Amino acid sequence: LLVIALLLSSLSIFGVIKIGALLPLTGGVSAFGDLVKKGIELAHEEKGTVLGQKIEVVYMDTRSEKTEAANGIARLIDKEGVIAVIGEVISGNSIAAGEIAEKKKVPMVSPSSTNPLVTQGKKFVSRVCFIDPLQGTALAEFAVKTLKIKKATVFTDVEQDYSVGLSNYFIERFKKYGGQVLQVQYKSGDQEFSAQLSQALAFGSEAIVVTGYYNEIALVAQQARSLGFKGYILAGDGADAPELIKIGGRAVEGIYFSDHYHPDAPVTQVSKKFVEAFVKKYGVKPSTLSALGYDAYMLIVEAIERAKTTKPELIATAIRSIKNFQGATGVISIDPNTGNPTKDVVILTVKNQQFAFAAKISASDLK
Ligand code: PHE
Repeated sequence: LLVIALLLSSLSIFGVIKIGALLPLTGGVSAFGDLVKKGIELAHEEKGTVLGQKIEVVYMDTRSEKTEAANGIARLIDKEGVIAVIGEVISGNSIAAGEIAEKKKVPMVSPSSTNPLVTQGKKFVSRVCFIDPLQGTALAEFAVKTLKIKKATVFTDVEQDYSVGLSNYFIERFKKYGGQVLQVQYKSGDQEFSAQLSQALAFGSEAIVVTGYYNEIALVAQQARSLGFKGYILAGDGADAPELIKIGGRAVEGIYFSDHYHPDAPVTQVSKKFVEAFVKKYGVKPSTLSALGYDAYMLIVEAIERAKTTKPELIATAIRSIKNFQGATGVISIDPNTGNPTKDVVILTVKNQQFAFAAKISASDLK
């Protein structure tokens, strides 16, 4: 009996499987980190063991910065001994962290980083979300075909790979339909947009498209409305945090943005169960990023199960061979060559100070 007890206790000490979660928990986009963490915590509660061992999630804050993202993932791998990493959230940070994951041959799965460069040329980095060529095209299609916009000013955050890329993909498709574009620049953390807005107004913009993150989108919207801009305000998935509405208030009412998911438009059986469990645990409906965080965790655990080993290299191979995985945000099949799934895009709006589902754009319609 003593031997068995000793064996069991040593198993529970040494038999812990560590998964890293590299997130922007403080800094410019901390709202994103918090949302993803909530999804991971729920997933961990539902599935806390794999291969008969306990899973421990080790959280690492990147302070929303590239260098900290790179340092953080190195620490997770070298000091904590994680066998896989969920993260980062924003593309610039995932590009930085992904270089390290690739060198150290440890799989990283981003819940939400949509820039193509995140996985390009890599074997160890994958993601559970669509990529920006698709998102930018979807947003342009919606702008032209549904909203009938012909003249737009695109606000690009030149410090964010995500914003630079998404702007380009939007502009490419928008121009293809004969749209006219003015592009203006800003930087993460900027507070004051009057110079860019006066250009946008002089241009006669029917829409202002802000391809960055929630803080600046909210401020641009506020300042645009106070200058009397009556046209459409559009954005990408970077708009999706409750802070957009907290900061932007009535100025973000009626904004449209492309996104991955909405809790009122469940796509799988898992989506429905996920929403119920999330509401029970947190008392609010899940944001997109919580659903994506949930999916990233569950997909990694599934890959460990299929690989039947804790060897990072074999888990990476298993991640790349996942097909028809039933996630909260949709059915996920990872392309073995690119590490990217193909998923549908949704358009959300702000209605009565809440995110509401507006439209769905199927990936297969976006050739
Ligand atoms: N797609 C964004 C990026 O790559 C991150 C994001 C995804 C933010 C979903 C909010 C919601 O930087």
